[in-house]
Parts: sequence; structure tokens; C-alpha cells
Amino acid sequence: MALFLMTDPAHYEVCYQINPWMRPTTWREDRDACLAGAKAASGALRAALKAIGAQVETVEAARGLPDLVFPANAAVVLDGRVLLARFRHPERQGEEAIFRSAFCKLKTRGVIDEIVDLPEDLFHEGAGDAIWDQGRQLFWAGYGPRSSKGALAVLKDVFGREVVPLELASERYYHLDTCFCPLTGGEVLYYPPAFTEAALAEIRARVPEELRIEATDADAEAFCVNAVNVGRTIVMAKAPPALRARLEARGYDVREVDLAPFILSGGAAYCMTLRLDRTSQPAAASIAAE
Ligand code: ARG
Repeated sequence: MALFLMTDPAHYEVCYQINPWMRPTTWREDRDACLAGAKAASGALRAALKAIGAQVETVEAARGLPDLVFPANAAVVLDGRVLLARFRHPERQGEEAIFRSAFCKLKTRGVIDEIVDLPEDLFHEGAGDAIWDQGRQLFWAGYGPRSSKGALAVLKDVFGREVVPLELASERYYHLDTCFCPLTGGEVLYYPPAFTEAALAEIRARVPEELRIEATDADAEAFCVNAVNVGRTIVMAKAPPALRARLEARGYDVREVDLAPFILSGGAAYCMTLRLDRTSQPAAASIAAE
């Protein structure tokens, strides 16, 4: 069964700007309504995950750390091993201690086995920039705006799996999970303008054309590439109908959740969660286990 980490949104807000999507002014104009909307949206995402049989662990909210609601950035997790993140921006660095203590508690309970630190001179923003591809048994690893290229060698050392480097070309698509989503059927939903030519060549070398689903500007701007895929279900923010139809034509069950209050901070379904039960078992076995 899939197991996710989410954060209580009680202290969520948009009060600084570290990516071009963040709208502190919009938030300030109607703080109470925005927070109420965020709580509802987070609850709806949690309900959508539970409806597909997933379990959710919760990190408590912390005042002054609004982006704690994006636990995908907390760590990379595979086979019970947790590689803790180091954030590029000072605004988010206070989250490191909170997530560390959350993982320590999960370790005490036997939910995870091991916690590993990143060397001090490197930045890495967790599963937002290191996406496990179950079918291909590799990490797709974004770098540039947030994560250091040097952290990719650490990923390889810590997890012992292939790491495919994908340089991100734009500040708007600053984490890999905003523009790249491998699906259980072997397809990859991705937004080509977010990548350098070298990164596109890496993707095209590994994913045959019939499995490449190119997101449009509208799909990417709606944060629909930032999706959670469990088995044949994909949970995502409100989707352009054409994207929904393309995914349904490939046999996916698309569940939309209104995540507008989190898009105001540059995040949506994938980054509001962190999958804790990922294992490097062959795809067939793990899809059955989902
Ligand atoms: N405001 C957050 C930031 O800029 C949003 C993070 C979204 N996370 C993600 N993995 N895309 O860091």
C-alpha cells in the first residue's frame, strides 16, 4: 500500500517570493479566505489519496515555515533510506530541522530505517528534484535552479541506483517535479521547454516516442505535471480537459483536486506529498503491491 507524508497546513501562507509563481500580495489581500481555502485543498488531496487506498503520515505545522507544506522537498526516500535535503534559500532552511525530527520519529516507529545527511557544501531539494522511476529502476534528477549538480553523485552513492541528470533551463520550472512525471505504464508526462537540449536528449534516449506525453503550456501552468501516480490513478490539480482526455485514453483514472491556494506558492499535488514506501523492486511486483 502506498504511504505518503503530508504536512498540516495550519501555518501555511505565501509571504515571500523564491520562485516566480509565488504571490504574497494576493495572499495578503485576503489572508483568512486563502488559509481556509488551503486547509480545504490539503484536506481534499489527503482524501483523494485515501480514496485510492493510500495511507498518510502527517508532519505538524510550524509557525514561520510556510513552505513546510511541500514535504517532497524534505528528502529522497528509497528502500527505507532517507537522504535529507538541504535547501538553497534561507527562507526554507529552517524546515531542515523539523523534517529531520519528523523522520527520526518515523524511524523510531520502524516506518523508515535509516537517515543520511548530504555533504555540507551541496544543496538538494529532495524528491522534488529526484524522481524515482519504478519501471526503469532509476532516479531522474533535476539540477540547476535549486539542487546542485554535485548532489547527483551523492544520490548514486547513497542509493546505488542509476541517476539520470536533467538540467533545468528555467526559473519557472525550478524543481523537476514541476515539469516531469514518470507514470506506472512507462509513459513520461513532461514539459519540454523546461529542459536544456542535453536534458531533452537524455529523456528521448530513454523513453521511446510513443511513451512521451508532452505537456502543453496550459498543462504545465496548471501544475498538472506535478502529479501523484499510484497504480493506474493519477491525482493532480484542476486539469485542462484535453490533458485529462489524453491520460484517460491511455487507461489512467485522473482525479482532480482544486489546489489553487498552493499553486499561489508554486506547488501542487506531487510536492505536497512525499512517498515513503518506495522500493527498488522490479516494477511488476511493486505495481501489484500498490
Ligand atoms: N514555495 C515553494 C518553493 O519555492 C514551493 C515548493 C514546491 N515544491 C516542489 N517540489 N515543486 O520552494
